[in-house]
Amino acid sequence: MTFAATVLTLYPEMFPGPLGISLAGRALEAGLWSLDTVQIRDFAEDKHRTVDETPAGGGAGMVMRADVLARAVDSVTAEVPMLAMTPRGKPLKQERVRELAAGPGVAVLCGRFEGFDERIFEGREIEEVSIGDYVLSGGEMGALVLLDACIRLVPGVMGAASSGVEESFETGLLEYPQYTRPQTWEGRTIPEVLRSGDHAKIAAWRNARAAEDTRLRRPDLWERHEGARAVSPSGAQ
Ligand code: ADE
Repeated sequence: MTFAATVLTLYPEMFPGPLGISLAGRALEAGLWSLDTVQIRDFAEDKHRTVDETPAGGGAGMVMRADVLARAVDSVTAEVPMLAMTPRGKPLKQERVRELAAGPGVAVLCGRFEGFDERIFEGREIEEVSIGDYVLSGGEMGALVLLDACIRLVPGVMGAASSGVEESFETGLLEYPQYTRPQTWEGRTIPEVLRSGDHAKIAAWRNARAAEDTRLRRPDLWERHEGARAVSPSGAQ
């Protein structure tokens, strides 16, 4: 089964872009995921192929027309969730990425200008997604981020099947620090425990560091993790 990505955009030339190289690029060539782009402008019906208009009520910028967007959205026949990239969307988290990656694929609607005519969200099931609390010049970069996060979890894409399991966010904690050769560099040595060969001790050290780093760097994640442990017996130590 492959992961089918469809991107609806005014700039299809931005895809696959960085997803055409490295891990995602090799997986694309291997057919582990597929990419379709839909040019939203193809669904404009006037002779100027207009996709945006000035905002009702006045104000800066331009708004993408609901009728044009609807025709573009309705042209997608794949049975996949329809997402729209927007800074007001639900913040993207690893949990949602995992769910999407386990499914048949996604369609991603990318906006430009000041956004979408609100009515597009009223009659259709479209999940609004944000990749963070900052404003991009369009949804395309957000779509690339979302797709990258999904594709690496599609079965068969990552070399070692387990390499996604222990990393940041999958455990609810940040990942423990990593080291590699040389043993001493600029006078700094790799923690002794990592050379001990004692796997139980190494695991305990890593768990402790993951917890400590999360508590210090991301108190928000730490609180959620501690809260979950308090209510779930399986999380008890
Ligand atoms: N479009 C503009 N800003 C965005 C953001 N932060 N996330 C997703 N899509 C966007």
